[in-house]
Amino acid sequence: MTEPCQQDIFSNLIDDLDSQGWSQRALFAPEILTRELASECRKRERSGELSAASVGRGSAQQVQEGIRGDRIQWLEPGESEACDRYMQLMDELRQTLNQELFLGLEDFECHFACYEPGAFYLRHLDRFRDDDRRTVSAVLYLNDNWQAEQGGALRLYLNDGREHDVLPQAGTLALFLSGEMPHEVLPATRERLSLTGWFRRRGTDVL
Ligand code: OGA
Ligand code: MN
Repeated sequence: MTEPCQQDIFSNLIDDLDSQGWSQRALFAPEILTRELASECRKRERSGELSAASVGRGSAQQVQEGIRGDRIQWLEPGESEACDRYMQLMDELRQTLNQELFLGLEDFECHFACYEPGAFYLRHLDRFRDDDRRTVSAVLYLNDNWQAEQGGALRLYLNDGREHDVLPQAGTLALFLSGEMPHEVLPATRERLSLTGWFRRRGTDVL
């Protein structure tokens, strides 16, 4: 069997996102890139660069481990070759999303996230009350050999009342509509690493 090409992978993701509001794809990123991103995330965690994530925005921002217990670090361009390659890949996905679904996505922001065993993120939407720019959420997982019994799934609450769990297996990408898909991160028995990001539209408050 021939390897699916990047445009096929993008098309499948986008068709699912359009028809059901979410999509999941194993082996989204090339294996070597996923491995490099995982070791970059672990390196940053070891050197103390990740810090407790907060909830809310602006002056309302607070660390609340009873809501979310992950530690994060935002990516900036030019910090590492692997991170730049990932952002380039996501920029190509952004352009394809715009061509196919006319979403008008302007940029992509993302952070590494590390959940220690037992950490979780309660059910939420990825859109702030006062900022509706986040439009499509995209999470790439960085954990080898994840087993269902280790927990740590991303649980999506679908609008027909069903639930769908995505296991945080290395190379899997989860994509969903930020403002419409309630979701949560279940606690795991092992460390859980990811690269979580958002495609954003232009804000209505921007002149
Ligand atoms: C988030 C989030 C999902 C995941 O960071 O907002 O919902 O699977 N992450 O890590
Ligand atoms: Mn979220």
